[in-house]
Amino acid sequence: MKLNKILMPLGLLLTLSSALLATSTAEKLFDTKCASCHVKIKPADFSTLIAPPAMGIVKHVKMNYNNRDEAIDFITSFALDPQESKAVCMPKTIKKFGLMPSQKDNVTKAELDQIAAWMYDNIKINKSCNSKDCNSKKGCNSKKEKKKKNISPFLITGKEMPHLTKILKMNWENKELNLSEKQKKKLLVIRKVTMDGVMELKPQISKLETKIKMLITEGTNPQKLYPMVQKLSKLKAEATKIHINCIFNTKNILTIQQLKIL
Ligand code: HEC
Repeated sequence: MKLNKILMPLGLLLTLSSALLATSTAEKLFDTKCASCHVKIKPADFSTLIAPPAMGIVKHVKMNYNNRDEAIDFITSFALDPQESKAVCMPKTIKKFGLMPSQKDNVTKAELDQIAAWMYDNIKINKSCNSKDCNSKKGCNSKKEKKKKNISPFLITGKEMPHLTKILKMNWENKELNLSEKQKKKLLVIRKVTMDGVMELKPQISKLETKIKMLITEGTNPQKLYPMVQKLSKLKAEATKIHINCIFNTKNILTIQQLKIL
């Protein structure tokens, strides 16, 4: 038998096993350095958590960073130097748990790169989970949640109504955009007011709209639905006002040049 025929599979085996080994080392690193706060699987009881579960973090990171390298860089940089302005989770996550303490004395940058890559590749996020919160209490698989996603809290939608706080968050460190510290500070206030406001209204809107839809399907007398429709339009108007304010105030903070980049 030619030596090649023996060596090739052997090489393959070695490559494979070293890849597996890397995964298990990275997972072990996560277990020792991060899992004391970030549980790896969806917990049964959310009330005992001291930080968002890993799946919530990975989900938000993937929502905010389209490419793997940037996502890994974000996780690494956040763990070494957590800042509210960098966070991709909902503001209320930080409000609930407090800002994550820096892990710089606990883990090295090289270890973090491994941990972050492992998290990105291995932490399963439940696709049917639509709750936008890293620490959703609801569980993530009910059909109800799926339906809710299609309900917009706003009266007016379309390209004139961009989700500016989200777009900015994704471009927070964009060199070309070059947000100044002063701008960032102001933008964070707007983000908070907007998110807090809309997030308070959204569940009410979803619930009411779902209820109306159900009653329509059941053949309820329209007269009985009118007051509910009225109330729904009022709630959506409130959310729309918050959205319009957010757009106006954000535009006032940015320069024309910055707005063009966005
Ligand atoms: C002492 C507890 C603790 C440890 C240990 C810890 N974290 Fe965290 N982490 C938190 C808390 C609390 C939050 C939520 C508040 C926040 O986002 O700052 C968080 C949030 C995060 C976020 C999301 C940031 C955001 O809001 O966008 C990332 C990413 C993260 N942690 C990565 C890690 C990694 C990686 C490790 C291990 C090296 C780790 N954490 C270890 C407490 C911890």
